[in-house]
Amino acid sequence: MARFQFVLIFFLCYTLSPPPAATGSSTNKLVDKICNRTSNYTFCAEALYSDPRTPTADAYGLAFVSFGLAYLNATATQDYIAQLLNDNTIAANHKRRLKLYQHDYSKAVSALEEAYDDLNSETFFQLAKLAGHAAAAADDCQSAFKGAHYSPLATMNDCLKALSNICVIVSKLFTGGIW
Ligand SMILES: *[C@@H]1O[C@H](CO)[C@@H](O)[C@H](O)[C@H]1NC(C)=O
Ligand SMILES: *[C@@H]1O[C@H](CO)[C@@H](O)[C@H](O)[C@H]1NC(C)=O
Ligand SMILES: *[C@@H]1O[C@H](CO)[C@@H](O)[C@H](O)[C@H]1NC(C)=O
Repeated sequence: MARFQFVLIFFLCYTLSPPPAATGSSTNKLVDKICNRTSNYTFCAEALYSDPRTPTADAYGLAFVSFGLAYLNATATQDYIAQLLNDNTIAANHKRRLKLYQHDYSKAVSALEEAYDDLNSETFFQLAKLAGHAAAAADDCQSAFKGAHYSPLATMNDCLKALSNICVIVSKLFTGGIW
């Protein structure tokens, strides 16, 4: 009898207590839903959770996180392009292509800047369009190097495209669209 009571009490305590921290505090259901709609769930979750605000963020918070990631990624690549253009060991024909890259990235950065301003003023209607422009700029960039052996930014383009696509999905949280 005593043993039965012990088992019962243990059972009740266990089932009534909050879930353990490992599974309860670090996940955000909204992130699951968003990442589920991207082409790579793992990439999306890793990127979003790289920001400490993500576990407790609502849709508005996740918009800041995702546009912030895309913006930082785009500007870091922009800096890298500037560095390559200053590099004397890089051939002139490669530099001509890099200039195309530079043009595409400045388009991406200004679209993301505009999106950030919109978020700050809680203007949501053109977020998805702006995120789409950033993804398209990464694509243009990729095609500028199509067939070329020299393609120093291929991985970065993929990153910006994937991050921008997360932004597109997050944007649709505000404008209806798919939710
Ligand atoms: C994610 O997608 C899978 C398969 O389409 C589905 O079974 C699952 O319920 C989805 N999860 C969420 C959180 O939407
Ligand atoms: C998905 O993303 C993860 C993490 O970034 C990466 O390791 C993996 O190769 C990606 N999968 C595909 C199919 O691109
Ligand atoms: C861009 O984002 C990817 C994925 O989050 C990250 O691995 C990469 O380091 C970032 N690149 C830059 C230049 O910020």
